[in-house]
Amino acid sequence: MQDLLLEIEQFCLRNGMSETRFGELALNDKPFVSQLKHGRDLRGSTAARLRQFMAEYGAHQPADAATAREYPAGSLAFPHRDLLGISQLERHEILYLLDQAEPWVELNRQSTKHTDLLSGLTIINAFFENSTRTLLSFEIAGKRLGADVVNMHAATSSVKKGETLIDTAITLNAMRADAIVIRHASSGATQLIASKVDCPVLNAGDGQHEHPTQALLDALALRHALRARGQAADDFTGLTVTICGDILHSRVARSNVLCLQALGATVRLCAPPALMPVGIEQVGAQPFHDFDASLDGADVVMMLRLQTERMSGQFIPSAREYHHLYGLTQKRLKQAAPDALVMHPGPMNRGVEIDSDVADMLDRSIITRQVEMGVAIRMACLEVLTRRARGVAGWEGAA
Ligand code: MLT
Repeated sequence: MQDLLLEIEQFCLRNGMSETRFGELALNDKPFVSQLKHGRDLRGSTAARLRQFMAEYGAHQPADAATAREYPAGSLAFPHRDLLGISQLERHEILYLLDQAEPWVELNRQSTKHTDLLSGLTIINAFFENSTRTLLSFEIAGKRLGADVVNMHAATSSVKKGETLIDTAITLNAMRADAIVIRHASSGATQLIASKVDCPVLNAGDGQHEHPTQALLDALALRHALRARGQAADDFTGLTVTICGDILHSRVARSNVLCLQALGATVRLCAPPALMPVGIEQVGAQPFHDFDASLDGADVVMMLRLQTERMSGQFIPSAREYHHLYGLTQKRLKQAAPDALVMHPGPMNRGVEIDSDVADMLDRSIITRQVEMGVAIRMACLEVLTRRARGVAGWEGAA
């Protein structure tokens, strides 16, 4: 028993995996290892299964999973049924999705941008909150993969979490969708729907919680921009990213902190005191209220919109004062690294959080590249998450 615990500990260390994650992957039982440590009984057959898992996983897992171009075989490369948040992903799983998006970046740049890979599958985009780019991007992604894509627009304010949402989930499930993409104003709504349906669920933004495909597309856009400058970009170690804006209400900030940190970047968060979540240091990001200080030497500056639709009450004195203190201008950008890149998830409020002459800088702004990468990332996520439904070899038993 002690031997096995030691083997598990070393396996987890070698593969950069937490013991909770090990329990989840090996036995679909998260607290398994901690319970073992506290004297949980272990059957011989379970010990054998654990050792077999470690042997199989190890055989395909390179020494440094973080920077590898090889991944565990089959569904172990991405052992999730749903994509609900970056918080559920290991570093190498993030890299796996980014790598899977690369062929789609290429395809999308050709004149014929179509495959039949998802032919016969139905994808429902259920958007309970307004969206332009995310909805379009998921729709284009599904269509370019050959799926039948149906968009369901729900009246934003009339649908609330609770019975109605559960009923909607049951209805979508009864229609036998092969993947459901959800955007909802309530944090946790996508998780609730995922627990009620039989197919993969992709979170296209839930309240203030997470927006995983946005963080992934941001990472892909950054990777491409760094590569275009001849810089190594498989890992963001050494890179300092300043994210400035309405951090309190932003799911983009939350997912990006997790994603960028997982890939090695140092993240600074800047917001007026009223728009900074309490205890933000606990996520490992450095908090700032002074925008100029937060820009000092930053390699990347990501600006966020004021999420007025989520604000109850007055959070800033006026848009004009906000721009004065937190707007990204050419002059301010000079405080960042000399060639710092500028990002924004959109929609932009020009003249509020960002000036037009910064947003449109050809050599520094990668805002349109972010939009481009959004389609490729969503194609990758849809393709990977439907592998089980399509009976792709090695993914039959996927989560
Ligand atoms: C979001 O859905 O959170 C957007 O991509 C960013 C925004 O609305 O400001």
